[in-house]
Amino acid sequence: MSYPFQITSYGQYKEAYKKSVEQPEQFWSDIAEQFLWRKKWDKVLEWDFKKPDVKWFINGKLNITENCLDRHLDTRGQVPALIWEPNGKEEPHKVITYKELHFKVNQFAQVLKNNGVKKGDRVCLYMGMVPELPIAMLACARIGAIHSVIFGGFSAQSISDRLQDAQAEYIITGDGAYRGGKDIPLKNTIDDALVTCPFVKRVIVYVRTQSPISMIGHRDVWWTDEIKKVEAQGNPLVDAEEMDAEDPLFILYTSGSTGKPKGVVHSSAGYMVYTTYSFVNVFQYQPGDVHFCTADIGWITGHTYIVYSVLCAGGTSLMYEGLPAWPDAGRMWDIVDKHKVNILYTAPTAIRSLMAYGLAPLEGKDLSSLKVLGTVGEPINEEAWHWYDEHIGKKRCPIVDTWWQTETGATMISNLAGVTPSKPSYATLPLPGIQPVLVDEQGKEITGNDVSGNLCIRFPWPSIIRTTYGDHERCRLNYFATYDNMYFTGDGCYRDEQGFYRITGRVDDVLNVSGHRIGTAEVENAINMHTGVLESAVVGYPHDLKGQGIYAYVIMDAMPDNKQLAQADITQTVARIIGPIARPDKIQFVTGLPKTRSGKIMRRILRKIAEGELANLGDTSTLLDPGVVNEIKEGRV
Ligand code: PRX
Repeated sequence: MSYPFQITSYGQYKEAYKKSVEQPEQFWSDIAEQFLWRKKWDKVLEWDFKKPDVKWFINGKLNITENCLDRHLDTRGQVPALIWEPNGKEEPHKVITYKELHFKVNQFAQVLKNNGVKKGDRVCLYMGMVPELPIAMLACARIGAIHSVIFGGFSAQSISDRLQDAQAEYIITGDGAYRGGKDIPLKNTIDDALVTCPFVKRVIVYVRTQSPISMIGHRDVWWTDEIKKVEAQGNPLVDAEEMDAEDPLFILYTSGSTGKPKGVVHSSAGYMVYTTYSFVNVFQYQPGDVHFCTADIGWITGHTYIVYSVLCAGGTSLMYEGLPAWPDAGRMWDIVDKHKVNILYTAPTAIRSLMAYGLAPLEGKDLSSLKVLGTVGEPINEEAWHWYDEHIGKKRCPIVDTWWQTETGATMISNLAGVTPSKPSYATLPLPGIQPVLVDEQGKEITGNDVSGNLCIRFPWPSIIRTTYGDHERCRLNYFATYDNMYFTGDGCYRDEQGFYRITGRVDDVLNVSGHRIGTAEVENAINMHTGVLESAVVGYPHDLKGQGIYAYVIMDAMPDNKQLAQADITQTVARIIGPIARPDKIQFVTGLPKTRSGKIMRRILRKIAEGELANLGDTSTLLDPGVVNEIKEGRV
């Protein structure tokens, strides 16, 4: 397998970039030619950001799983597609070749069919990091069902919201999931969610932890029983459904600045083409390389860089069930050593937390297989970058700092490993096809170098978000209405003297906690559900390990006698309503919030207080009650 679209020199990158801007249709059509199509497209691109309406590879027909699996069978059938490393060190790992994965996906696609799942149906996947998760995703894609993976850390309420929004009638889950020392009760949480989702017809349960669970007759079935039925049918070959290029491939919910998560919808063809293009170029993947992305498949990083792009490229993807520092701080390095990992892709939070253990966990670990390192999800501080470079890459592995989002499907701005220049804490240059623009508050483009602004993208790329499920207007308002004719990312950005981009963080009310996106409004809504809470305001503050921590200011109907207990109770409510990832790190009880005369909360002031910048709070004279600021300053936790 070779990659004709792999860029191998800085000169080639510049050439490719130029062509992608001057002749985008020709550029992407040449790349799309490298994939397997049932029918080629009539036209490469139609777009109108005002609506928004973006279509790539119009009237092209394909099935992404034929690109991920069937295409490789003749030449790479015995090559490992997935290597699965279990949570516990003692349990043996699994290697699943392309041939085996093809068989398993086919088998589970038949299970889905037997259970009534059809093209266009939404299937919710709430599972741990077991091979059955990518198998189920691919099985959905094989028959044209739209999967919606929900991260295993979300609560019953969050699941219910997502099930209702997508009207998902089918669920695939586990009895439980292992994550470090914990056994996550997946099925119990699903049962709680389903109290409010009577439309769910079928729950397929994969047994991993042997935890006691309830199984409701006529609704819940066991994964293995269903597989046995397919075996009894003689394991028939399931025809991959012929999908239109623009048919949705999946929905993935993500947080925005409003209270309700949005169901980001990705297309079949555009997502396939761009994710694979980015994978091969950013990581400079070579056939045979073992690619280890440490993300959970419940997030976009796992969808793209554990499952779809790696398999489309015929690569070997290592997935790990557990946590980087469990059962000991050397676990991640053991995995790299054991599986001779060539590419390691992780989040700055993970690097910072491993860094905190010092160098002892690295002793005796052979990391010489590593060729490329990557980071994603949040800005990486220089200290973590240098530690990663010196102690993990031993100064011989380029580090790619990949900036992208759930909505962009794949990496947008990043150096290409060893091919284009890198600079600590900079995502550096856009990939071919990506046209970043910095704009001021009024939407005026900021040209030149050594400037900062809000980051927008001027022209569509193949894996751009198509809609927010069930509410297209929301998609328009969120991403395409702030600035005329541009996709707005929600991120602030600096462009240095050389034209390199550095992402400076969100400019909207979205937090990035340990590389996970959390909307402040969502957390506030959850806090406000707690008994006695009258109002709350949530802001982020710098956190050594998590990047950002969650700071909540809360007004209660009466100041609690036992503040510590009240804080713990509120934390528990948030964990119940959203999930443990959204738990506030700090809660301060206040009697009022700084508001303008029109009633708008001045978050700038709250942010500064949370950050400990008490001296320079700016102009507070326009506040309804300036006195409240002193009280908040004094009560800072
Ligand atoms: O703020 C940016 C930050 O993560 C946001 C996207 O979050 P999500 O959709 O959950 O996807 C995360 C994984 C792709 C962005 O708006 N972000 C992502 N990558 C970087 C980053 N911030 C700085 N540097 C990055 N490399």
